[in-house]
Amino acid sequence: MSLKVRQGATRDGSPGAASRPPRGLLVTGAAEVATLAGGLRRGGAQDEPAIAPPGTAVACLHGRIVAVAVEAEAREALAAALAEIGAAPDACDVIDATGGTVTPGLVDPHTHLLFAGSREGEVVLRQRGASYLEILAAGGGILATVAATRAASDAQLLARGRRWLDEMLRHGATTVEAKSGYGLDTPTELRLLAIAGRLATEGPVDVIPTYLGAHAVPAEVRAAHPDATAAAEAYVRAVIHDQLPAVAAQGLARSVDVFCEAGVFSPDQARRILQAARERGLEIRLHADELAPSGAAELAAELGALSADHLGCPSPAGIAALAAAAAASARPVVAVLLPTVPWFLGLELREPARDLIQAGVPVAIGTDFNPGTSPVPSLPLAMSVAMLRLGLTPSEVLVATTVNAAAALGLGDRGTLEAGRRADLVVWDVPTHAQLPYWAGADLVRVVLAGGKLVVAGGRAVPARGWAIEGRATR
Ligand code: NIG
Ligand code: FE
Repeated sequence: MSLKVRQGATRDGSPGAASRPPRGLLVTGAAEVATLAGGLRRGGAQDEPAIAPPGTAVACLHGRIVAVAVEAEAREALAAALAEIGAAPDACDVIDATGGTVTPGLVDPHTHLLFAGSREGEVVLRQRGASYLEILAAGGGILATVAATRAASDAQLLARGRRWLDEMLRHGATTVEAKSGYGLDTPTELRLLAIAGRLATEGPVDVIPTYLGAHAVPAEVRAAHPDATAAAEAYVRAVIHDQLPAVAAQGLARSVDVFCEAGVFSPDQARRILQAARERGLEIRLHADELAPSGAAELAAELGALSADHLGCPSPAGIAALAAAAAASARPVVAVLLPTVPWFLGLELREPARDLIQAGVPVAIGTDFNPGTSPVPSLPLAMSVAMLRLGLTPSEVLVATTVNAAAALGLGDRGTLEAGRRADLVVWDVPTHAQLPYWAGADLVRVVLAGGKLVVAGGRAVPARGWAIEGRATR
């Protein structure tokens, strides 16, 4: 595939200088355009990525998609849109995607983006027989990352966030959910959400902040109580009465998450936190049955959460409850599967993806990027693991990382290539989406548009302004 951007485009897809009129962008020549048009998929439709007819081009202007149509029609629509705003009808830059595949920008619906330190030592502890929850109970795991994160400065956390977002972007993600949860006290949780908000403002990746105060019981609360049960209860009260009001007042988090798992927070505790969140106008989601069935999938269905995440071990009743909720609702709970987690932890466990799809539950896939269970910033790698370990087809994994992942975040303006949607798209260096999870671990991204801005070209990040490329990009 050759890559040519003619007429000296700038990073914001417009000429940069305020005096010059806006320009359109046209992506042409792709071997395949997977539009994902039509909204959230479930059941058999999870396998239908909506492949456009050959010769389809995508036209964008002002950060939005103007048309997805055969090239002549797309050019005409773009010319009309340019004329409408008083610009020259041919003021357009062309991205030559010959031989490549065009998809919507990927959406990563579940990450723990912001943390300090790393935990490679735990891999060796697990190789010697310790389990993930045993390491946590001994004060390691999440609590080790909490200590490192509390000690890190805002500048350090920002720099780390930028570094990993850049990596995610170069693997095709244009929207990334980011949870707090390594602060576990009001000041640090607010700090993490503020940094997520700042990264969202900076762009080019759109960051969607989630508050996860109930990620673990912090060491100082555990030490102040006679046993683990009393400590968990005390911390849940602090989350509901201290942290949550402050998070709601800060106004940055879109949703609230709870690690609902045997030995962490119970369904009853999760229900209380999530109901309090809802009363404050926040969306809700939960880490559900990641390692053992605890009734969390049932709770997600009962509450009508945006998503139930992980689902490594939902009970049959939990799957049935999600299915019943999906059948009854136009906005079903999305099952966000995170298959790199059991893979990275060396567990045989497989999320029951096929059972969920057959039951009519919409499935999304995320990386769960975090230092303990999934130090994996690449959504395409998670797609490969989903195909190979969960038995999803390439089309099902593409649906799971675009339109269904956007639905898991409650975002109706992205995840598909349709007129009016955000101009988030990826040109991949393969002729069909079926090869995306197949070349496992390969670097297939050639071009990324995020919000209409050309942010990756030739597989490399594009500098902020004033660049022009012909076949390659320079930093
Ligand atoms: O999604 N399960 C809880 N939280 C993360 C892991 C966090 C960590 O180990 O640091 C997860 O797997
Ligand atoms: Fe997680």
